[in-house]
Parts: sequence; structure tokens; C-alpha cells
Amino acid sequence: MHKVGRMTNTNSKKTVVLVYSGGLDTSICIPMMKEEYGYDHVVTVTVDVGQPAEDIAQAAEKAKIMGTEHYTVDAKEEFAAEYCFRAIKSNAMYEGYPLSTSIARPLIAAKAVEVAKKIGATAFAHGCTGKGNDQFRIEYGIRALMPEAVIHAPIREKNLTRTWEIEYAKKKNVPIQQSLTKIWSIDENLWGRSIEGGRLEEPNFAPPEEIFQWIKSPKDAPDTVTELKVEFKNGVPVSLNGETFTPGKLVAKANHYAGTNAIGRIDVMEDRMLGLKVRENYECPGSTLLLTAHKALEALVLTREEIKFKEKVDAQWSELAYQGLWWDPFKDDLEAFQNNTQKRVSGTVTMRLYKGNLTIIGRESPWALYSEDLASFDTTTFDQRESTGMVKNFGLQQRMFFHLAKKM
Ligand code: ARG
Repeated sequence: MHKVGRMTNTNSKKTVVLVYSGGLDTSICIPMMKEEYGYDHVVTVTVDVGQPAEDIAQAAEKAKIMGTEHYTVDAKEEFAAEYCFRAIKSNAMYEGYPLSTSIARPLIAAKAVEVAKKIGATAFAHGCTGKGNDQFRIEYGIRALMPEAVIHAPIREKNLTRTWEIEYAKKKNVPIQQSLTKIWSIDENLWGRSIEGGRLEEPNFAPPEEIFQWIKSPKDAPDTVTELKVEFKNGVPVSLNGETFTPGKLVAKANHYAGTNAIGRIDVMEDRMLGLKVRENYECPGSTLLLTAHKALEALVLTREEIKFKEKVDAQWSELAYQGLWWDPFKDDLEAFQNNTQKRVSGTVTMRLYKGNLTIIGRESPWALYSEDLASFDTTTFDQRESTGMVKNFGLQQRMFFHLAKKM
């Protein structure tokens, strides 16, 4: 087991791995690491989990201008297969929206650690503020995979404001043109797009149409119904309308189907880990679609008690994922139960997509705990007469209570 704490090695101060998005917060960390934290080599790592390609390119471009050693890691397929599909098996939701930003952070941390190990670094920096959840997720992730890591969070440690950051960036020639014109703070990956800031900080301000990039407004969505068959194997989707895809491509395609049909816009008041309430808008087209289909299939194949218990396990799992405790042993324990149930979650769910509505219209599975022969109004396979005794004695204690109450 590694010792947790600061390194004593004098070389350890030289190189720092910066978890880099290319935005204002992380960009000012570059000169800051050198001038205020005493590093002479900054390595920037941008992890592609499905952000717009121009954001990834821009991060690389800025890193080049500022002279860092830069790594772009394409983790889209890994993110879809190991994180989004995991979220499906766990029906991962938080306060009414599919967990999306939160499930990408551990992978981003893991990739930063991979680069650090490759180049022999143990110091990290990130651009999270002290108000949000991402500081927990990024730092937990890094420390889980490299317990001896030293982590700097300049925005938090120096209590910086956006105005101060812009001034500093100008002084240090940090390219921030795009940041200056940005009204909304956006975080985007394959599983969802989150929009906050600007006038959205007023909980009573209606989300303007311009914040939505992935999902059409119902009034602009097609006037015809789209029918979609989602096929699952062992709890994860494998094909859409009979066409198979890699996990990353499948999620992208699901985003397209649902986005075109105005499905997955969500506006919530969210309780962050530190207790702050924030107004968040989400675009979760593909995740809404796939999670809904998955639940419909579970309803067909799992027992009543499994479904009830799994809801609790899923809620607990979602809590851990929200908090970024991705490598917590408790999460493994919960997954052991979830995974066992998913062995039977195979089959097909048929849905209708129409102007913001997502309706299940059919489900089938070789594991269906359903028999038409037993349930039908027109059969006698289930002998009704056998229910008589059960019905008479069901609720026995309630009957006894009223019997006693009458005598009192
Ligand atoms: N509050 C959400 C979460 O903790 C998303 C935050 C994303 N950040 C943003 N700037 N939109 O997962």
C-alpha cells in the first residue's frame, strides 16, 4: 500500500499534470503552475468523452500556444462501454436527471493518472472551483488510482473570481477569446449536456431556446412518429432497429433519435454535495431513451422483490456515482447484485418517439416472467378457485384489529 501524503522527493515539484479542458479556469492554471506553484514543466491532458470536436481541437491549440506538453486522449468508446453502459445497468439518476457529468469525471481522472504514470509525475492540478462537485470527483479519482498524488486546485485555493481570472489571463497572454463571449457554462459528454450560469442562475427565468444544442423543441420536431426497437443483451443495448453499433456509436445514435424528436430536456433545482442548490438544465436525449427502455425490460424479466430491492440499490449506486466514489468498494458490492440481475435483462423494447413523448409500446424477452396463458381473461390454466383461501386470509392482522376494536 502506498503512503498517502506529500512526496519528499525534490524532483516531484518539477512536472505537474494539468487536467485540461481548454476553458478559462484550466487555462490560467498553466502560467499559475509555473509562477505561483514553482513547477517548470506543465503537462496538459484533455480527455475526449464526447465533447464537440472543436473544443478538443481548441484545447490542443491553446496548449501549443502556451507551450505545454499536451496529450489528447480519445476515451469515447471506453466511456460509453464502461461508464454509460454501467449507468444503464444501474438506472443511474440523480434528482430526476441521468447522471452524466459525474460519470465522466472518474474516467478523466484515470486518464490523467495514466499519463502521469507514463511520464513519472505525481503532481496534478485541476481547474475546479470550491463550490461544485467536480473537485470531489476529480480528486477522489486521482487519489484512488495514485494515493501518493499531490493535487493543486488554484481556483479554489486562491478563492479566484471570473473577473480576476480574465484580468490575469490578459496579463499573462493566455488566449481566452472564446471564454469572453461565452454566456453559459457548459459541460458536455456522450451521456448528456449540462448548461448553467448566465440568467439560468435565476430559478424563475425560463430556459431560452438558444441553450439547447442537441434536442429540438417539440414544435420543430417531425410531425410523424418514429418507431424504435432497442435490443438489450445482459443489461446493455446492442442494437437499434436491428442495426448493431459499438457502444460509443450506439449512444450517439440514440442521442440523434431522441434529440430529433425533442426528448430529454430537463430543468431541475439540484442539490450539490456541499449543500448549495443550483439551477441546472440538461440535454439527455440518448440517456433518457436508453434508461427508459432498460427499465421497461427489467419490469418484464425481474421478480417483484428484485425490482423493489434494485430500486434501493440503484439509488445508492447513483449517490456514490454522483459523489465520484467510483472506486469505492461499496460500489463494487452494489454492482455484484446489479450484475447478477442483468444476466436476464436481454430482449427487445419497442418505443414511439413523437414531439417530446417517449412511449413504450412493446417488450419481449426469453426471460419474461410473464405467461399470457396464466394472465389472460380467457383461459383456465390458472384455476381461480385456488385463490379463495389466500384471499380470505390476506390482511389477517387488519381483520383481527377491527374485531378487537369492536369489543373495546
Ligand atoms: N451539477 C452537475 C453535476 O454535478 C453538472 C455540472 C456541470 N457543469 C457545468 N458547468 N455545466 O454533475
